[in-house]
Amino acid sequence: NLPEKVTMVEVGPRDGLQNEKNFVPTEVKQLFIQKLKNAGIHEMEITSFVSPKWVPQMKDAADIAAAHIHNGHTIVLAPNRKGVDLAIEQGAKAIALFVGVSNRFNQKNINKTTRESMKEILPIIKELKQRRIFVRACISTAFYCPFEGKISEQATLQLCEEFAAAGVDELSVADTIGLAAPTEAYSLFSQLKDRLPDVLLTAHFHDTRKMALANIYAALQAGIDRFDSSAGGLGGCPFAPGATGNVATEDVVFMLERMGIKTGIDLPGLVEAIDVVASSLSRTIDTGYYTLLKKL
Ligand code: HMG
Ligand code: MG
Repeated sequence: NLPEKVTMVEVGPRDGLQNEKNFVPTEVKQLFIQKLKNAGIHEMEITSFVSPKWVPQMKDAADIAAAHIHNGHTIVLAPNRKGVDLAIEQGAKAIALFVGVSNRFNQKNINKTTRESMKEILPIIKELKQRRIFVRACISTAFYCPFEGKISEQATLQLCEEFAAAGVDELSVADTIGLAAPTEAYSLFSQLKDRLPDVLLTAHFHDTRKMALANIYAALQAGIDRFDSSAGGLGGCPFAPGATGNVATEDVVFMLERMGIKTGIDLPGLVEAIDVVASSLSRTIDTGYYTLLKKL
């Protein structure tokens, strides 16, 4: 009993670019976002309001937001009060807060323990809901941490339940360093599905070890029908050593459509979007669908 259609949440302009060494010109980012929308993507993380000292690639967040925030379900990330205030100032309609299950990862990423982050974030969720802003919570290191190793399923479930109780609309649960096995993905997402029926559940797989498509299939079987992905397979968290790209949107769309599951995304349109950023990147795009197409 697989779903008839799934929702893809595009994270290319944010997760995809944040780990990119070269500064991608703001106009290129703008066109990339526009082309992704033209390809049929409705939900997208467009940028993040984080410290420009920590993540210089995102220093143009206000410009990106000003151009795109009012057009469709565009999400901006914020790690703290300051980021949330900047996002609200730009008129954000959907904000993604992020926190790691692992303390050590959260320290490296946000310079706070998980508890310190939660203390700051929980009242903010309430306020955002009063302002009728859609709240997405991104849960990092839900399976493994680059510093602490295996994360207990119980710890991840508890943090997700805490966010759900606080009233978030969506949880994006992440395999930050691409170590989860499909059995682990199935187990965690089945339990989340059982315990949190009122929250949109989204799976966020990094493809570091090429297990992301298998994990998506496992998550589908657990009843998940929302997936984060990045056009061109770009991405990775700069504060998770060894982290590489998100699962490639084109590869997920191709697999799902081959399975008869609708995504609403136009592959040629997606390829056009990837072409827009490809020449501004320091890395070569190497994904199943895109790379083969370029070789033929
Ligand atoms: P800090 O140094 O402890 O912050 O960093 P601070 O409060 O001491 O402020 C330091 C400076 O940053 C000050 O500026 C602040 O104004 C400024 P100064 O006075 O020195 O000129 N500042 C900000 N500027 C813009 N936006 C803000 C902001 N906050 C403070 N929001 C901080 C703490 C959280 C700021 C820092 O650690 C940070 O920016 N971290 C973000 C890291 C990041 O972007 N990581 C990647 C995204 S998460 C991810 O990729 C995982 C995910 O994909 C899921 C998965 O795969 O796991 C979502
Ligand atoms: Mg990520």
